[in-house]
Amino acid sequence: MHVIALVNQKGGSGKSTLAACLAVAARAAGERVFAIDMDPQKSLTKWGHRRRDKDLPVESVSAAKLETALAALASAQVSFVVIDTPATDSPAADAAMRCADLCLIPARPTIFDIWSSEATRGKLKTLGKEYVFVLNQCPAMQESQRVSDGAAALEAMGGLLRPFIGARVDYQEAAREGMGVTEIEGKAGEEMHQLWASLKRRLGRAKDSRAPRAA
Ligand SMILES: Nc1ncnc2c1ncn2[C@@H]1O[C@H](COP(=O)(O)OP(=O)(O)OP(=O)(O)O)[C@@H](O)[C@H]1O
Ligand SMILES: [Mg+2]
Repeated sequence: MHVIALVNQKGGSGKSTLAACLAVAARAAGERVFAIDMDPQKSLTKWGHRRRDKDLPVESVSAAKLETALAALASAQVSFVVIDTPATDSPAADAAMRCADLCLIPARPTIFDIWSSEATRGKLKTLGKEYVFVLNQCPAMQESQRVSDGAAALEAMGGLLRPFIGARVDYQEAAREGMGVTEIEGKAGEEMHQLWASLKRRLGRAKDSRAPRAA
């Protein structure tokens, strides 16, 4: 079982959006997915309630109960857990960071997002956790100077998962219906399938802390 956490102290960077969309893309790729919402705003839980297709459980879990919940999910043969976290330096975000095999730090290509990603990255480094950045809400002109500067800054801070995710209304449309963007035909869905494929490859290299140990 692999556990990822979406983390960034910067609000609005796309944690909940990417958590929902990656959960759906992973499910479509055949993973047994469980989504955990640790944010008191409960965006992901509300999204789960709107979802017609009940193939994807979403539950709110407190920091104190996260370890136990993950152990139960591993026993239930869940293969992929995605954790959404609040945009605060909080016990919930801390617990998610500690329990995840890999943390994803979504960041928009703006200087405030890059700075705040640096703070989140600092915390993960202190904890000795693996992390990777995702550049989100990029302007349509993919090759704009702002996007390439943002990408270079995040690469320098420890690695960037490709592709860059564009700013597209499909994300808002999908969220409103409790869907993932891969369930709407278009460029956003294609990018999300590619992001899942990159993440899957990256997870192959990440430590699986819950793999059964050899006797
Ligand atoms: N790639 C994208 N294209 C267009 N809109 C996006 C994209 N990603 C996120 N958004 C929009 O940006 C807003 C913030 O996204 P989201 O709620 O996922 O961020 P968050 O990091 O979870 O915020 P918070 O820290 O408040 O929980 C939402 O309105 C969402 O629909
Ligand atoms: Mg959120």
